Amino acid sequence: MEEFHKTRRLPPYVFEQVNRLKAKARAAGADIIDLGMGNPDLPTPKHIVEKLTETVQNPRTHRYSASKGIPGLRKAQAAYYGRRFGVKLDPDTQVVATLGSKEGFANMAQAITAPGDVVLAPNPSYPIHTFGFLMAGAAIRAIPAEPGPDIFHALERAVIHSVPKPIAIILCYPANPTAYCADLDFYKDIVAFARKHEIFILSDLAYSEIYFTDTPPPSVLQVPGAMDVTAEFTSLSKTFSMPGWRMGFAVGNERLIAALARVKSYLDYGAFTPIQVAAAAALNGPDDCIVETRAIYKKRRDVVIDSFARAGWEMPAPDASMFIWAPIPEKFRSLGSLEFSKLLLEKAEVAVAPGIGFGEYGDDFVRIGLVENEQRLRQAARNIRRFLETADETLHNVVPLGASR
Ligand SMILES: Cc1ncc(COP(=O)(O)O)c(C=O)c1O
Repeated sequence: MEEFHKTRRLPPYVFEQVNRLKAKARAAGADIIDLGMGNPDLPTPKHIVEKLTETVQNPRTHRYSASKGIPGLRKAQAAYYGRRFGVKLDPDTQVVATLGSKEGFANMAQAITAPGDVVLAPNPSYPIHTFGFLMAGAAIRAIPAEPGPDIFHALERAVIHSVPKPIAIILCYPANPTAYCADLDFYKDIVAFARKHEIFILSDLAYSEIYFTDTPPPSVLQVPGAMDVTAEFTSLSKTFSMPGWRMGFAVGNERLIAALARVKSYLDYGAFTPIQVAAAAALNGPDDCIVETRAIYKKRRDVVIDSFARAGWEMPAPDASMFIWAPIPEKFRSLGSLEFSKLLLEKAEVAVAPGIGFGEYGDDFVRIGLVENEQRLRQAARNIRRFLETADETLHNVVPLGASR
């Protein structure tokens, strides 16, 4: 069947291959421990669910809602930015609610991209950061994911060699999939660069509240002057364990926010009003639920780092996010991340996300999601220990695969 112009630009989802194997193994009765998804497994806090059920009783809330978000919700998001980052936002012109940050990102790409525009995106990256722009007709130029000097070298080269000049830089810290974090000094340098070259910054701050150090991740909007060139995306999916509710925000530069709001006004009528009301209650409410969530992910992180190391697989502990970016054990590295993930699924009954699914520079890694409870994580470590103990035998049987990489 012939592909359409747009769908042709979307390669088959790499994760689909692991998902298919996972479904097959489960159908055959295997107890797969699924660390492959970024789908938070914790329940949404009770007071937020109660606000939803209370609000939905009012028939007025069953009508079409406001595409850019009801005023109370935009005000609550502005208050969050004030409290958490010391960033002052006008709820009317600098805040728009989105149907999850993924939708916000994709429609921002639609709103600001002309065919052939160049966008600078990290590799590896969360897929919508690149495919949102590809679908909008842009060309992607890769920059390193790690927030160090190499990024600035890559950016300097990009402005010299890209024709036309890049329109935007995409940032995501704490990062999915790498869990890299950025500090304010890094953001200051990026903002200076973006202002000098008149390039927009689009920052994905979905993991703003999932951190394990004493210093919370900053917002790029904290940098003086950032507002001139920046839009930033946040999400309630991880902060309040609300992934299925589809609630996020874009905030920042008025021109960017107005463009997104305009595109959205043609496409949607906003989230269901009770969801918006409950989301406002989440943002305005007590934050002990966030503290608890953070502690749960931190404990899980420690369990994986310790128990997997004891099983023979060492990996760096992330300072934030709900992922561990794990280097493939040396012995298996030449297989590449997809074949390694398939082996891990077949032989250890543990599903992970192959790094190649996030970009070619991710192929020496797999992403481990902290989305199962501690007991299941310890079970995963036991399975992996057995898998690693029989590594030589397993590799002997898959050598032709590795050789063909
Ligand atoms: C970096 C990043 N941005 C955005 C999202 C999507 O979040 P939302 O549920 O708000 O669309 C995710 C989800 O995994 C993510 O990891």
